[in-house]
Amino acid sequence: MRKDRRHQWVIGNWKMNGSLAVNAALFEALAAHRSSRGRVGVCVPTPYLTQGQRGLGASEIVLGAQDVSAHVDGAYTGQVCASMLREFGATLALVGHSERRQYNGETSIEVAAKARAALAGGVTPVICVGETLSDRETGAAEKTVAAQLAPCAELIRVTGVGLIFAYEPVWAIGTGKTASPQQAEAMHAFIRDEITRFSPDARDASILYGGSVKPGNARELFSQPNIDGGLIGGASLIASDFLAIVDAL
Ligand code: PGA
Repeated sequence: MRKDRRHQWVIGNWKMNGSLAVNAALFEALAAHRSSRGRVGVCVPTPYLTQGQRGLGASEIVLGAQDVSAHVDGAYTGQVCASMLREFGATLALVGHSERRQYNGETSIEVAAKARAALAGGVTPVICVGETLSDRETGAAEKTVAAQLAPCAELIRVTGVGLIFAYEPVWAIGTGKTASPQQAEAMHAFIRDEITRFSPDARDASILYGGSVKPGNARELFSQPNIDGGLIGGASLIASDFLAIVDAL
């Protein structure tokens, strides 16, 4: 079964939430958890990486950032490059989250450049794609996702299996509306076909689903043949919910 060959992941995306006091309890709960299956990551706001590095200690939880610069170093005020993230223990970085595409005007070309820079700096990019509600309603969902992936073609060709993808339909993020397992599975299968066209090795890349994943719907989503876990926003802020989702792997 192909799914056995792919890494199964649950990755939390705290977005712009937290404080030293609130995070301390969350890191402590995460660090104490033992996941029998799969890998677990948490992408925290950049100022809290040090706290995460200490708080997660020698636990199995992988620390990540929510963005990374497309550049190696230099005059890019406000940006943070992959080598800096590495120094604070982060080995994952989200790239192209829909909120960054929407509020920061990131294009798919920039997202691909960020993914490339992350990898070059030793950080695994989690490349986020997903259509809007109007794309879905007009039958353009696959076209949109294909266009978001296209600038990553060369990177996928040279990297193959070393990338993580996340399908997050914009209409399902933070809205309480989850894509049905069938809708999500259909898009995951499509993404897998697309990336496999760029590189046969990429067939075994992990593709996570994100968008209102909760303890109550995680198991059914994760049991789909092409869904390799989840990228979790709101529910990653509540330790018991996040860990229940981890256990659904
Ligand atoms: P949500 O967010 O789980 O709160 O819908 C997912 C995400 O944006 O990564």
